Amino acid sequence: MRKVMIVGAGGRAGRAATAEAVRRGHAVTAVVREPARHQDLAGPGVALVAGDVTDADALATLAAGHDAVVAAVYDSSSTDPHRFFVATAHALTDGLARAGVTRLVWVGLAPLLPTSDGTLLGDTEGYPDEHRGFFLAHAAATRAFDTATGLDWVALSPSGDFDHGGTPSGGYATAPGDADSRITYADFARALLDEVDEPRTFRAHVGVEAASAP
Ligand SMILES: NC(=O)c1ccc[n+]([C@@H]2O[C@H](COP(=O)([O-])OP(=O)(O)OC[C@H]3O[C@@H](n4cnc5c(N)ncnc54)[C@H](OP(=O)(O)O)[C@@H]3O)[C@@H](O)[C@H]2O)c1
Repeated sequence: MRKVMIVGAGGRAGRAATAEAVRRGHAVTAVVREPARHQDLAGPGVALVAGDVTDADALATLAAGHDAVVAAVYDSSSTDPHRFFVATAHALTDGLARAGVTRLVWVGLAPLLPTSDGTLLGDTEGYPDEHRGFFLAHAAATRAFDTATGLDWVALSPSGDFDHGGTPSGGYATAPGDADSRITYADFARALLDEVDEPRTFRAHVGVEAASAP
């Protein structure tokens, strides 16, 4: 049994990660901004607590004693995603260092993944350009993790995108960036928790897709 803190536990990726961690028998600290909106998360194996991912002091206190932290955050109300992701990355690096937690499993963004020819998915011809500002903001977070010493971070993202309505395959495979690739949140959560239980990737961003084509 491991002790895992999941930040953004009320979101789609965070909920899937929480369910997968519970399925594995881990003790989960589920961090959300407003616990009253996420009471359904609390239960056997899950302690629901209030916390903001941009608050280093709160993260330092909450993360103490955990084996790893999973962060799956996106602030849809923010008009400045760059500011949000930089503040998030700095709070996580600072807070986790003070808590003595070295493993961070970060939910990243597919456009930042290299495709099979090495071109970043977001730079490939025809890739929608309207979200470029958002993915550059996400990139600032991983750059900040990379400058932190002593943080064994890994970023996982879909190789392409999430499959919102599909049936989980029950597994996953790592894969380069590919706009057509899909993975359900449940399969994605397996990859997140595998990097908690048996860390294989360090200081790198890896894409994952369903074990078999949906
Ligand atoms: N193709 C791709 O690569 C792809 C596609 C989709 C998403 N993503 C990435 O996956 C990650 C998770 O996405 P998702 O689909 O799970 O999003 P989601 O369902 O919108 O969940 C995001 C969660 O972040 C939480 N959050 C926002 N600001 C916070 C703060 N200051 N402190 C603590 N929690 C905060 C929200 O909490 P509240 O419940 O309090 O609002 C929400 O539960 C994001 O980084 C997103 O960019 C990647």
